[in-house]
Amino acid sequence: MPALLELREVSKSFGGVAANVAISFDVAEGEILGLIGPNGAGKTSLFNAIAGEIAPDSGDIRLAGRSLAGRGPVAAAAAGIARTFQVVRSFDSMSVLENVMIGAFARHAGLRAALHTAEAVLETCGLTARAEVAAMALTPPEKRRLEVARALATEPRVLLLDEMLTGLTPTEAQEGVRLIRAVRDRGVTVLMVEHVMEVLLPLIDRAVVLHLGRVLTIGSPAEVVADARVIEAYLGDRYHAPA
Ligand SMILES: Nc1ncnc2c1ncn2[C@@H]1O[C@H](COP(=O)(O)OP(=O)(O)OP(=O)(O)O)[C@@H](O)[C@H]1O
Ligand SMILES: [Mg+2]
Repeated sequence: MPALLELREVSKSFGGVAANVAISFDVAEGEILGLIGPNGAGKTSLFNAIAGEIAPDSGDIRLAGRSLAGRGPVAAAAAGIARTFQVVRSFDSMSVLENVMIGAFARHAGLRAALHTAEAVLETCGLTARAEVAAMALTPPEKRRLEVARALATEPRVLLLDEMLTGLTPTEAQEGVRLIRAVRDRGVTVLMVEHVMEVLLPLIDRAVVLHLGRVLTIGSPAEVVADARVIEAYLGDRYHAPA
């Protein structure tokens, strides 16, 4: 399968901190890829680079063969990259529908087309009944789904989810899992950062493990949980593979 998203030797330092060091991997179209690793491993920093919010110091990021590195967030969104934020960023006093319309206007200049897209996305995300409510009135799991809805309204090819399932109850997390699967089944490629291994591992096709800014290993969920370096650097007591 040809890669949709290609990272080649992506590096970024902040002052003396090497957040990402020569990160290279491919993401296939239609794949759900997990990005895991300890706090400070460089996961969010890499999302920021893919979404165009920071320019890598060196290396390249290509979507469908076109270079995006350092071109900025508008170019990344136009090319088909959308993301959610680790700390939710809704416009609190605006309605749920208005929040999603902001995403839709990134793709459609016309009101009718944007509204059509926003309404379809609200349906996908289970937020139709909450469309007219102010974003601040949503429950925490609804706020997470609103983040996804706003990202999906830009009609992305690649969706970056940063700890979307963190802090949810197991039931809420399973609803999130169903949403992610539904999104992928519509043809969107998903790259997700998550610390809750019990939820993440059954969902993803492959995992990229970051540690100290570098790729420690890449493999299937079964491969990475059995990897002594991954257990040492990250999984430790956090996760024990079912016997
Ligand atoms: N904009 C920034 N300015 C300065 N330092 C940054 C910036 N972004 C990231 N860093 C640093 O880069 C390193 C990687 O941070 P990053 O946020 O990518 O980690 P993470 O893997 O997402 O961690 P967590 O699991 O805690 O969210 C950290 O040392 C962090 O302090
Ligand atoms: Mg992070």
